[in-house]
Amino acid sequence: MLVRALTSLRRNGVVGTIRWQLYRLSEAYNERHLGVDTRRSAEFGPNAYCHLAEHTPYEPLPYGLIKRGLGSVCENAQEHVFLDFGSGMGRVVLTAARHPFKRVIGVELMKPLCEIARENVARANHKLRSSVEIVNEDATRYEVPDDVTVIHLFNPFTGDIMTAVQRRIRESLERAPRHVRIIYAHPTDQRNLFEGVEWVKEKQRISTGVFFAMKLLVYEHTPSQGAASGTHRRVTPEAPVFSAKLA
Ligand SMILES: C[S@@+](CC[C@H](N)C(=O)[O-])C[C@H]1O[C@@H](n2cnc3c(N)ncnc32)[C@H](O)[C@@H]1O
Repeated sequence: MLVRALTSLRRNGVVGTIRWQLYRLSEAYNERHLGVDTRRSAEFGPNAYCHLAEHTPYEPLPYGLIKRGLGSVCENAQEHVFLDFGSGMGRVVLTAARHPFKRVIGVELMKPLCEIARENVARANHKLRSSVEIVNEDATRYEVPDDVTVIHLFNPFTGDIMTAVQRRIRESLERAPRHVRIIYAHPTDQRNLFEGVEWVKEKQRISTGVFFAMKLLVYEHTPSQGAASGTHRRVTPEAPVFSAKLA
């Protein structure tokens, strides 16, 4: 432990080491509180996705950031249906379901991740205030339910996949015009794939505090923005480089 602390001090300095330790403590506390394990694992690293261009490997968003994002909607959670695209082992849906949303949905491509997420939901069930459904589906094929009002994405995909998913969201807004908020987290070294999408407006940039390698943005769609008339911008594919690292 001492060796690890000294290595961290040498590599990250005092402030960096304190930040890193606070991050680790927060992660451990939240996992323990829910009785779940949603940590990154080598099994679902880039190798598991190497045949899938434009898909981002599993990596959970730090609890601290999930809570910051939810802060913009959880005050009146009971009015909202929450959907996380690329829900992985379920960390975001579990954290959302601690608030009384009408319901919470996670959509995830990888079957083994869905199984882990469902186990995690079962384990944390007594701490949850809304029901959670984990759907094993490619997000491009998933028809967004017309009562979904909060959509969360932690950098799950890029390129044509993101374009197709944005189209899915828009189709739902055309069927059922409504107010929708999109919470979008992505590493600062990646392009913001919602920039220039005409049927949403950037509403808020949430401070990411110590996670300054991340951006956390809230977009909003209001029926007056007319999803049907808005043009759809194609998202240029880019390498799914991923780094939810601190600093
Ligand atoms: C960066 S992780 C985010 C995990 C989770 N949202 C969290 O923060 O804990 C991205 C997730 O998106 C999933 N994913 C990638 N492409 C997908 C697709 N086409 N449809 C559904 N899920 C996808 C990956 O399997 C991975 O679990």
